[in-house]
Amino acid sequence: MMHRRDFIRTTAATALASRFAWLRADAALKSKAAAKGILYGSAGPITLLQDQAYQQAFIKECAILTPESELKWGTVHPGLNTYNFGPGDALLQWCQSNGIKMRGHTLAFWQSIPGWLQKTVNPSNARDLLTQHIQTVCGHYAGKLHSWDVVNEAIQPEDHNPDGIRNSVWQAAMGTDYIPLAFNVARQADPQALLVYNDFGVEYDFPGIDARRTAILNLISKLKSQNVPIQAFGLQAHLYGGSLQKLNAKLLAGFLKSISDMGLKILVTELDVQDKGLPADPNARDQAIAQSYSTFLNAVLQNTNVIVVETWGLSDKYSWLKNHAPRDDGQDVRTLPYDANYQPKSAVYQAIAQAFDAAPPRTV
Ligand code: XIL
Repeated sequence: MMHRRDFIRTTAATALASRFAWLRADAALKSKAAAKGILYGSAGPITLLQDQAYQQAFIKECAILTPESELKWGTVHPGLNTYNFGPGDALLQWCQSNGIKMRGHTLAFWQSIPGWLQKTVNPSNARDLLTQHIQTVCGHYAGKLHSWDVVNEAIQPEDHNPDGIRNSVWQAAMGTDYIPLAFNVARQADPQALLVYNDFGVEYDFPGIDARRTAILNLISKLKSQNVPIQAFGLQAHLYGGSLQKLNAKLLAGFLKSISDMGLKILVTELDVQDKGLPADPNARDQAIAQSYSTFLNAVLQNTNVIVVETWGLSDKYSWLKNHAPRDDGQDVRTLPYDANYQPKSAVYQAIAQAFDAAPPRTV
């Protein structure tokens, strides 16, 4: 007969085991995704290299990493003739020694424009500046990266430029032409990386979003007709937890089908869910956030051209939303699969894991 103390111990252990059954060693997000031919990963800030606990979680869950800012102009190209590959190289080395693939982000972007470039660039030197940058940075990492976000966030119909192109130093100097230029130079500098056009703000039924979707489809179609080497669309997927009812799965699926019908792969590049306006109670908040992850991923993963899913960070500790979209009540954001203490949050984690389990398989 079991001693009373042993009985209590066994019962407690069973209860604990069943509570955490979802977190078995084989349940890592990267394994669930890999079973369907999908790479799961996350943005990785350079601070990852100083944070052992984060590294452990990252290695367990992630098969791919995007340097969050280390390969943007502002970091990698701090002076006309100065390149700073230190942070990017350190992340690449860490990835390589842990069997993690790395992505490149990003070569032509309206943000992260260093002061020297802002002062120097004009219509007569812009082509050369962009060409030289891409040759140097893409060339430095040639053959080592999974993919490059060659052009980031080029569409903003509200800016009223031809083709819906967003205002930027590149658009000001070259109009739409900077986009094919960037892809062509990237292809020459790195014949292997998958070349991606990355953008945000296409997921919801908000006013003006149709115009964004249309402009993106038109841009891709034009690039394809000009034989520009664009190979994939990066769907950033910065979601709004408070707008779930406006997350129109059918519309989103239709948009992605138009893209895959043009022969492009699709990468979910920066998935996260803003928790502004959601309940303060952490459990209720996690449930609401999990619903956005589920609705979004279940819709998107039906498209078998979707080969990568990355969240924009793994732990809330380093989410950019802490600064970009803090909560009005001052509580810490709870946007990502892991909390700020490196613990997986059951509701959010399971929503992502279940979406991978339910996804149809694809061949990468
Ligand atoms: C963000 C980073 O996460 C922040 O740390 C940085 O301060 C600003 O940029 N879309 C993108 C990313 O393509 O480059 C942005 O990253 C988030 C929005």
